Amino acid sequence: MIIFTEKKRRKQLEEYLKKEKQSYTFVTGADSFKKISDTEFTINHSLKDNFGKLFKEISSKVTDELKIISFHSGKKISDKISDEVLQHSGCILILNIIQAISKAKFLKSPQLSIVTENALAINDRDDVSGLISSSLWGMGKVVSLEHPELKCKLIDTDSETGSEYLFKEINSSTGEDQIAFRNNERLAARLIRSKSRQDKIIPIDDKSTYLITGGLGGLGILTAKWLADKGARHLALISRSNNTDPVIDHLDELRSMKAEVRTYKADVTNRDELKTIIEDIRRSGYPLKGIIHSAGVLDDGVILNQSPEKFEKVTGPKVEGAMHLHELTKKDSIDFFVMYSSIASVLGSAGQANHSAANAFLDSLAHYRRHLDLPALSINWGVWSEIGSAAAKGADNQEKIAGIKSINPKQGMSALEKAMMTDTAQIGVMIMDWYKYSGSN
Ligand SMILES: NC(=O)c1ccc[n+]([C@@H]2O[C@H](COP(=O)([O-])OP(=O)(O)OC[C@H]3O[C@@H](n4cnc5c(N)ncnc54)[C@H](OP(=O)(O)O)[C@@H]3O)[C@@H](O)[C@H]2O)c1
Repeated sequence: MIIFTEKKRRKQLEEYLKKEKQSYTFVTGADSFKKISDTEFTINHSLKDNFGKLFKEISSKVTDELKIISFHSGKKISDKISDEVLQHSGCILILNIIQAISKAKFLKSPQLSIVTENALAINDRDDVSGLISSSLWGMGKVVSLEHPELKCKLIDTDSETGSEYLFKEINSSTGEDQIAFRNNERLAARLIRSKSRQDKIIPIDDKSTYLITGGLGGLGILTAKWLADKGARHLALISRSNNTDPVIDHLDELRSMKAEVRTYKADVTNRDELKTIIEDIRRSGYPLKGIIHSAGVLDDGVILNQSPEKFEKVTGPKVEGAMHLHELTKKDSIDFFVMYSSIASVLGSAGQANHSAANAFLDSLAHYRRHLDLPALSINWGVWSEIGSAAAKGADNQEKIAGIKSINPKQGMSALEKAMMTDTAQIGVMIMDWYKYSGSN
């Protein structure tokens, strides 16, 4: 097996593997590729050619199925975590591993396991301290769809998880590919219909400001109208272009509903620009009480055609944008913090590894915030018709995920209201033919 890990985790893993007389090769991060011994290499995670060199060295010696394991420690997310760390949350490492596997000459396809630590909220007590690695869960689900030959396993551990449990799971062939360990109890992922009650009051009033990132986009402007309909009178809409021409009629409609609409030109990946807007709202006399984070871009491509740049383009507005909003407003008395995520992070969506990764982060951030007693809801939207980026590309009638039917604006807004009335961190909204979906998987 080849194990990609940080130096600090290596010692503990090695002790176990030696005791069990298992053969292994460790690969740790460094500035450049170096063969230290037959069982030890260093590699620069962001240099694609380093992975080619590594697999060239290894592939000729492998006769049976090679197990590739990538460990991502539960590095605690701090308030001032750099954008670069967020961007390179492990996804670029996995991207480079898969692209290099496709070029290496293995006799048998390797099996890939991605191991995170506290990246998910499995139960109410989980603090999601490994939030930084959560994007890997979105990406991993796409790896399974695009590269079934890798038999990709996603495993989320906690600090208690013993190496014996972990390697037993990695070496097993139970067919389960999304597993978590909590206090050494093994748990497997199941999708369930929400049974939560919708009895929460959505506090929307005429004396507060509601901020929508991506506010001039399809779902953004529709959400603004829904807020105005519910009594909001001060709306702040952010986009990079601030091009109001395509939505001028909608803005007029909002004003006719007696809503004061301020549009801001800002990039949500830029903390300073967001800070200026939030300070402007604080000075307005109408305090910030609700946030809808709807900013997002798509740049689809199968993993073999993905690049760090395409990843950064798509994860930036979602991951960095959401973290900036979280950091900048956590002392404000916010009533709701809703993030527009996608069903892609729950089910995976072929050709959208970057999008799935970005949205998986939003899902875990919602749980992380709730653990801090801050409001948060991540909505895993299915595909929308008539408005928004999917409809603009004609993707609303393509069934990118087998069985999925599009949500029309009326259904979507009714679902938004129900989701916001539900006391939960994450909820999926989709119209689905589950028989068709399960028949295709
Ligand atoms: N439509 C769907 O079927 C669907 C399904 C699932 C999830 N979603 C999610 O729902 C959200 C809204 O989707 P949509 O369909 O309404 O997309 P959209 O029409 O393309 O709107 C997205 C908006 O985000 C803005 N934006 C992008 N990057 C930004 C940045 N860095 N800083 C500030 N603003 C930025 C865009 O304006 P500029 O380009 O001018 O910045 C645009 O106004 C997205 O997060 C999307 O992933 C949508």
